[in-house]
Amino acid sequence: MNDTFLKACRGEKTAYTPIWMMRQAGRYLPEYQKVRGKVSFLDLCKNPDLCVEVTMQPVELLGMDAAILFSDILILMEAMGAPLEFHEGRGPLFHTTIRDQAALDRLIIPDIAEQVGFVLETIRLLRRELQVPLIGFAGAPFTCATYLIEGGSSKVFWETKKMMYQQPAVFHNLMAKITDSTILYLLAQAKAGAQALQLFDSWVGILGPDDFADFALPYVQKIIAALQPCGVPLIYFANNGATLLELSVTSGADVIGLDWRIPIGQAIKKVGKKAVQGNLDPFALLLPKEQLRMRIQRLLKDAEGAHGHIFNLGHGIHQFTPPEQARIAVDAVHELSCR
Ligand code: CP3
Repeated sequence: MNDTFLKACRGEKTAYTPIWMMRQAGRYLPEYQKVRGKVSFLDLCKNPDLCVEVTMQPVELLGMDAAILFSDILILMEAMGAPLEFHEGRGPLFHTTIRDQAALDRLIIPDIAEQVGFVLETIRLLRRELQVPLIGFAGAPFTCATYLIEGGSSKVFWETKKMMYQQPAVFHNLMAKITDSTILYLLAQAKAGAQALQLFDSWVGILGPDDFADFALPYVQKIIAALQPCGVPLIYFANNGATLLELSVTSGADVIGLDWRIPIGQAIKKVGKKAVQGNLDPFALLLPKEQLRMRIQRLLKDAEGAHGHIFNLGHGIHQFTPPEQARIAVDAVHELSCR
C-alpha cells in the first residue's frame, strides 16, 4: 500500500513528494473516451463498475499516488432535487434555477444512501482494488450555489451576486441547505472508505476577501468542523484564491489547495504549519520535456519549507493535454523529489 499521499497530508516525512492531478480521470485519456463512447456522462457517474474503471485509469497508466473518486460535484445538487443535464461542449445545465425562497423550499436534504448510493458503492468497490489512497470530494457550497442560481456555468455570475446583495437571507438559506447536504454526503463517503476528502471551490475567487468571509467561508468551516471527527485529511481548494489564502487557512482544512497564480513559496509563508497541494499551471504540461522538468524542479525546491507538500496542478488537467506529458510530470516529481 502506497500511503505517501496521506503522510504528506499529515505533514509527515515522505521518501518523495506524492503527486495526483485534479480531474485526472477524464477526457484527455483515450481509455476514458473509450468508456464514455458507450454511455452518457451522467450514466457513467451512476454506474459503479464503470466509475471504478475510470478512477483506476490514471493510477495505473500514469502512476499517480492517489485516486480521486470518479463523480461530479453536481451529482449532489441533482439529489437535492435540481434535475441536471450535461450537453456536449456546453457543460452542465439545470432545468430550473434557484432564485427565490419558494424555489429553494423545493430543494430537499437528500437521503444519501438511497439517492446517491452509487457513489458509496463505487467507494467500497474501489477500496478493494486500489493500492493508493482514495480521495472523496464535494463541491464547496459557494461553487454549488452558483450552478443552482445561474442554471449552469457562468462567466460573470450576475445572478449569484444579485442574490447575494439583493436577497442575502435567501442566499444564506441556500448556502445553509447545501452545507447540510454536503456534510451528510461527505460523512457517508468517509464511512464508505474515502481516505481523504476535498472540497472544490472553483468559483469562489470571484469574491473579494470581505464577501468571502461573510458569504462563503463560514459554510466551509461548518463542513470541515463536522467532518473532523472522521479523522481523514480534509483538503480545501479555492481556485483563484491567492488573495483569500489567509482566510482559507481559517477554514480548518488540513491541506490547502493552491492555484498557479501565486508562487508556492509565498503561499507556504501565508499557510504556515499546514500541508499545501499544488500548484503547477495545467498548461505548463505543454512545455517541452526538459523545460517541464526544470519547472517541476523549481517548484519542488520552492516548496521545501512546506509542512507537507502534495504535488498537483493549479486546477484541473485540460482535456486536450497529451497523456504522455502527464506521465513526464509524474516521473519528474518522483525522481526529482527523491530524498
Ligand atoms: O478529478 C477527477 O478526475 C474526478 C472526477 C471529477 C469530475 N468533475 C469529472 C467530470 C471531479 C472531481 C469533478 C469536479 C467538478 N465538476 C468541478 C470542480 C473542479 C473544477 O474543475 O473546478 C466542477 C466545477 C464541476 C462541474 C462540471 N462538470 C463542469 C463545469 C463540467 C463540464 C466541463 C467541460 O469542460 O465540459 C463537468 C463535466 C465533467 N466532470 C467531465 C468529467 C470527466 C467531462 C464530462 C464528459 O466526459 O463529457
